[in-house]
Amino acid sequence: MADGPLVLAVDQGTGSTKAVLVDVSGRVVARAVAPLSERQPRPGWVEQDADELWHSVSRAVVDCVDPAVAHRIAAVGVSNQRESLVLWDRRTGEPLGPLVSWQDQRTTAKCRDLIAAGAGPLVRTVSGMPLDPMFSALKAGWLLDTHDPERRRAKAGELCLGTVDSWLLSRFGGDHIIEVGNASRTQLLDVGTRRWDERLLDVFGVPASVLPRVVASCGDFPTVRGLAPVPDGTPVGAVLGDSHAAMFAHAGWRPGVVKATYGTGSSVMALGDGGDSPALCRSVAWDVTGPVLAVEGNIRATGRTLTWLADLFGLDEQILLDEAAETPGRVQFVPAFGGLGAPWWEPDAVAVLSGLTLGTGRGELVTAALHAVAHQVEDVVSAVETIVGDVRELLCDGGLTRSTRMMQLQADVSGRRVARSAEPDLSALGAADAAGLAAGLWSLADLEARHRPATAYHPAIDDASRTDRRADWRTAVARARLGTD
Ligand code: G3P
Repeated sequence: MADGPLVLAVDQGTGSTKAVLVDVSGRVVARAVAPLSERQPRPGWVEQDADELWHSVSRAVVDCVDPAVAHRIAAVGVSNQRESLVLWDRRTGEPLGPLVSWQDQRTTAKCRDLIAAGAGPLVRTVSGMPLDPMFSALKAGWLLDTHDPERRRAKAGELCLGTVDSWLLSRFGGDHIIEVGNASRTQLLDVGTRRWDERLLDVFGVPASVLPRVVASCGDFPTVRGLAPVPDGTPVGAVLGDSHAAMFAHAGWRPGVVKATYGTGSSVMALGDGGDSPALCRSVAWDVTGPVLAVEGNIRATGRTLTWLADLFGLDEQILLDEAAETPGRVQFVPAFGGLGAPWWEPDAVAVLSGLTLGTGRGELVTAALHAVAHQVEDVVSAVETIVGDVRELLCDGGLTRSTRMMQLQADVSGRRVARSAEPDLSALGAADAAGLAAGLWSLADLEARHRPATAYHPAIDDASRTDRRADWRTAVARARLGTD
């Protein structure tokens, strides 16, 4: 490893924490991954352990950073899974119960009640997002109803609510804070003013006293403490939501960039105001040199669909992917495990597997899952296109992009050029890019000039076949949308 300053980035995701160490040229010189488990204690509930989450961060950092170079770390960047929420005791720092995951659906009935009571339009206009259990606001109400139904402790300032960035930063000591992009995904922030909104707090029953102070993405963060071998006092240069960080790593501030991140779920994002498309969200992407808005659509289950199949068959995911059949046969899979996110936003939609025959095997199911990922991403890209104009190229990153098959399918289904980043852990790199910027190691122009290799995939099916496939997919989605009611 050559001499010079280093940037450590930690990407805390749903299934694992990744740590990367980057040198001044932006090259990754070390990396590590630590797993993180989740629990489904009841149908629709998804939880994680907040302490285990912290330990997965510590583990990834220990495995990534050679103690001999730790003193060279000039800044730490953090990117994180968004919307998931923890409630903890301000005095002891102990969590009150588990972290409620962004995937969790326990608040679906409450969501329905609020929509019936007419809260939808206000929530949509002010927060920029549809009223949906995926965002933190309904989880906040549930956590408080469960642990402090009278809001007595919350109003007395004894409790802290926070997203994953907030929780991790609290481990370094200092104030109860949240990064602005993460804050905008709580659905409690006015996306225009970037302040907590009293009307939203009222709708969801959340006292302001329980919420963190909102800071910019390269803002006033506490320095690192207790993250060995990183020396205490190392500055935290930047914090970004994971999808936002991936956008940053694509130098997404350049005009015309549209990207898809394939994680547990997927996020398709472009910068811009987003207008009033009901299919998409308007959120704060980041505040690095000033606040920037993003238009985004979230798909709940993409990588998670493959993980689900791998668990079902007791196989390693890569082995499962290697078994993918040439075609899915007549099998259609709509993986609406926790309802459907963008562009449909239907929490009551159900997962549907159709077209099974006695000849259907594992290979067809895997291929149907890959097709479902490609169609879901394309549904959102088409919605984004109505806002930002022609999307000729889709920049792709995240775990599932390692599959060449997946990328070719995406190009076929989308009828667009697809560029797969050679670096799958782009969220971590985006956090590193922003942290290095904050530390003065490089400029935005340097980041734009930084060459990040990508492989291009071009559509290999004709328009008529694509139209047929898309029509079949829409029929299958219509079945899923019939839901359980
Ligand atoms: O919005 C949820 C998203 O941030 C989760 O990301 O990478 O953990 O699937 P990931």
